[in-house]
Amino acid sequence: MSTIYIHWPFCISKCHYCDFNSVAADGVIDFDFWLALYKTAIRKFLDDFYKNEQITSIYFGGGTPSILTPLFISEIITLIHDRCKLSEDVEITLEANPKTIDLPKADGFRSAGINRLSIGVQSLVEADLRILGRKHGSSEAVSCVLEMSEIFGNISIDMIYNRPGQKLGAWIDELSAALSSLPIQHVSLYELIVEDGTTLNKMIKDGILREPSRESEFIESTWDTAENFGFHRYEISNFAKPGFEGRHNISYWKYEDYYGIGPGAHSRIRRTDGRKMAVEQDGIIGNWVDRIKSGFNFEATELSEEEEFRERLIMGLRADVGVDLNPDLIDRNKIQFLLKNSYIMLREDRVVLTNEGCLRLNLVVEYLSSK
Ligand SMILES: C[S@@+](CC[C@H](N)C(=O)[O-])C[C@H]1O[C@@H](n2cnc3c(N)ncnc32)[C@H](O)[C@@H]1O
Ligand code: SF4
Repeated sequence: MSTIYIHWPFCISKCHYCDFNSVAADGVIDFDFWLALYKTAIRKFLDDFYKNEQITSIYFGGGTPSILTPLFISEIITLIHDRCKLSEDVEITLEANPKTIDLPKADGFRSAGINRLSIGVQSLVEADLRILGRKHGSSEAVSCVLEMSEIFGNISIDMIYNRPGQKLGAWIDELSAALSSLPIQHVSLYELIVEDGTTLNKMIKDGILREPSRESEFIESTWDTAENFGFHRYEISNFAKPGFEGRHNISYWKYEDYYGIGPGAHSRIRRTDGRKMAVEQDGIIGNWVDRIKSGFNFEATELSEEEEFRERLIMGLRADVGVDLNPDLIDRNKIQFLLKNSYIMLREDRVVLTNEGCLRLNLVVEYLSSK
């Protein structure tokens, strides 16, 4: 079983905190040009690497793929459908920004095959939306979620917490308001990371904004609040009502194969001889376009056993799927130590992090992967 990720790199503007491979669209987007290019890239990529296994999820991420037209999305889904074996209940997600989706467009997306929407709400506090550089207001984001729930029965929202100057009590009230009033089945709650080179970083360096506090209290209270509203945590930042866990991300965490297509998209594909391959597409949009136009070959790099083991740990330990307790790879003494300190638990021969362990994910990964 595998998944497909389509990366669309354009947004209406660049948010202050974001260092994803995305840029503000410059003028009018020529959808015909881009559609032809994506179709060429997808065909070529699948011809080169797809092994005829079942596809359980297709994910349109970015950037802001809700900028795209329903026709664009429909053509891409049809192409993948014609070329791949899709599971009957395939999950097809579209990331959406409240500024770039309305009811008629959403209806078109649903007819095209989208059955899950992930909406970037980020905050319900007007002043914080400005700090984050979002172009929508709080009530606009709320109405967007309400409207979209008329069309989609599987909606996730993204929120960012531990914002500059944010008080814990105010955040918990804001989160509680979102979780109690919005018709959603899933929520991704990200602790703000101040990435180098972002506008936010500059604003903090210039003394315009305060550095966010790094208290684990924020994380733990966020987890507890989500649980109290019936959203169980199945990964460090992801919470779902029962049965609505995102299949796409679970597949990453289980370290299943994924085919990523678009500027900067990466893939992990197991070869028939058992070795895992990495394919990284050019992240510079102009280069990516030139390469696809010139029909070049995608380059695959073989991962070493150590690299693969480390990736499996990083991905699996984030989530409650955990990692296989493979005695060839995991040192029993290290497991005993982590168990004794309550950083991990064993569930059906899989290593799963406790809350304590989740707060120290990087340390646990380092410890288990070091010689
Ligand atoms: C590709 S965006 C989602 C869809 C759409 N582009 C939008 O922003 O509305 C992925 C999500 O990652 C989160 N994110 C991005 N940069 C972050 C950062 N520096 N710290 C915390 N969360 C971040 C945001 O919640 C964002 O919605
Ligand atoms: S957070 Fe989303 S909308 Fe904002 S710049 Fe990043 S990808 Fe674009």
